Amino acid sequence: TDPLRVALAGLGTVGGGVIRLLDANRDLIARRAGRAIEIVAVSARDRSKDRGVDLSRFDWVDDTTALARSDADVVVELIGGSDGPALTLARATLGAGKAFVTANKAMLAHHGLELGEAAEAAGVALKFEAAVAGGIPVIKGLREGAAANEIARVYGILNGTCNFILSKMEAEGRDFAEVLAEAQALGYAEADPSFDIDGVDAAHKLSILASIAFGTRPAFGDVAASGIRHLLGADIAEAAALGYRVRLLGLAEAGPNGLFQRVHPHLVPLDHPLAHVTGSLNAVVAEGNFVGRLLFQGAGAGDGPTASAVVADLIDIARGEFGPPFAMPVASLAAAPKADSGER
Ligand code: HSE
Repeated sequence: TDPLRVALAGLGTVGGGVIRLLDANRDLIARRAGRAIEIVAVSARDRSKDRGVDLSRFDWVDDTTALARSDADVVVELIGGSDGPALTLARATLGAGKAFVTANKAMLAHHGLELGEAAEAAGVALKFEAAVAGGIPVIKGLREGAAANEIARVYGILNGTCNFILSKMEAEGRDFAEVLAEAQALGYAEADPSFDIDGVDAAHKLSILASIAFGTRPAFGDVAASGIRHLLGADIAEAAALGYRVRLLGLAEAGPNGLFQRVHPHLVPLDHPLAHVTGSLNAVVAEGNFVGRLLFQGAGAGDGPTASAVVADLIDIARGEFGPPFAMPVASLAAAPKADSGER
């Protein structure tokens, strides 16, 4: 069988991880996928940066969009950003009838419906396991594993940077800014860290998760978000004294007035599993009417975990196993529900 030919756009933390993973687990991936998965072309802003892997074996492409016209079967986009080169590449790739894999939650939150339509029109895969909660297979878990269920609510810790900051502030009494700098150094934070600390990144992910869980169109504009920028050490200490931990949660819930989608700091009681998710980990809880309560936990950021999700998508494509990008064909997704006012 012919190998699956992959073009890779963006060689940052995750892009380097994808190359290392495909190198390290080459044989087992080929056995599981039924064919080899081979990177044939790459593009990145900085060619000379040392990524700890031999890149000389790949074709380098200067114009990112040219990857859509390469002889690859699938383009993997790890550039980031809701618009700009990532979106241009997504449109060009799907328009050329090639499969597209992305970790880009911002782009999907804003343009997921359009890209889903383009993928369906072309009959190709649009896959984004890595876009929500990094290495945790939560898209697959809900889209496939829990597909038979009506979901009442889905919620969780969707931003590793904030969870890392909150954990360190609580355990070590450290200062917000100092811990943020540490998260940035570890490579968890977004290029613009205000996306992390103001809840925007978690809101991007929640809008995708809600679409999968509720069969609705992804509607970022319906998510109300606030972050942790104004939390003080004293707030966290006071919560602890009362038996709670502060966690930035994204929550989507079906209610009488529509779909309620919010991101804000929550007081989580110590007997709830999310109170014990520390450091940069993510966790997602979903409640299905037949499966009951599911808890997914794992690394939500970082090169290895995120690469693991990207390559899982490539394996699905190599096997020819993919369906509609969201919970069901785009035409059947419920229209963006009237946003719940959030009054409780
Ligand atoms: N900045 C994100 C986080 C990276 O901290 O969770 C993973 O999406």
